[in-house]
Amino acid sequence: MTSLDALVRPDKYPRAAAYDPQWMVDNCMGPNPLWLLEDLGRDCAFRPGMKVLDLGCGRGMTSIFLAREYGVEVWAADLWIPAEDNAARFEQAGVGDQVHAVRAEAHDLPFASGQFDAIVAVDSYHYFGTDDLYLGYMVEFLKTGGRLSIAVPSLHRELRELGGIPAHLRSGVGWQVLCFHSPEWWRFEWEQTGLVQVTASRAQPDGWLDWKLWCEVCAEHSPDEAVRQASRATISMLDADRGELLTFALVTGQKVASSE
Ligand SMILES: C[S@@+](CC[C@H](N)C(=O)[O-])C[C@H]1O[C@@H](n2cnc3c(N)ncnc32)[C@H](O)[C@@H]1O
Repeated sequence: MTSLDALVRPDKYPRAAAYDPQWMVDNCMGPNPLWLLEDLGRDCAFRPGMKVLDLGCGRGMTSIFLAREYGVEVWAADLWIPAEDNAARFEQAGVGDQVHAVRAEAHDLPFASGQFDAIVAVDSYHYFGTDDLYLGYMVEFLKTGGRLSIAVPSLHRELRELGGIPAHLRSGVGWQVLCFHSPEWWRFEWEQTGLVQVTASRAQPDGWLDWKLWCEVCAEHSPDEAVRQASRATISMLDADRGELLTFALVTGQKVASSE
């Protein structure tokens, strides 16, 4: 049995270690979003008072973390989770005046041009951002010099190089694993637009181990049987892979001045 205490890791994630592990298990919608955000935050240069869009925030744990840890003002946007539910969570966490809950679809965002100093997306951007044309839409909402930072499930090598989807990825994720890409893929995809300068694009070296630990805890401690079952299936995939392909990519790009 993997204890909830396994999620308290001040050595690696000192900020996330201060959060209640059961709260994280109850509200997560994928591998530990606070660990991913704490790592991603190293590339983001957040400053108090910045306006930040948390896109695909799920149940808003990352939005709460952004407000508390970096003192930024957050627009917490998500498609699947109702804004009222997130707003209640933000009130309960004491950040109701700093975090604005919004229900929104990533292609139809109700924000102004140049509204944000930063946009972050933790475990969500791969659902919509692999479309070659999407970055052009997204950067419109950033100020010049603002940063777009994403944490996405990733592969150390492109599936095309492997000649197709390996069996353990097909059974663990399905054909949808086609939206997993290497950090080099993301760097090329973004740099070639000329819209952003990529300031960081890295694979977490032992991302699969964090991912597995998270699943082990959820398989034991999630109140939701569907989550416990999905966690067990993901553990089987990660054990078959052993970090050969699977990890998380952390990618940050800074919006350049328009040449028009
Ligand atoms: C795997 S969950 C991760 C949620 C949260 N970031 C976390 O880590 O717990 C993916 C999230 O992406 C959001 N999402 C997927 N497609 C979206 C879209 N087209 N527009 C906005 N959000 C989207 C979903 O609503 C969902 O909450």
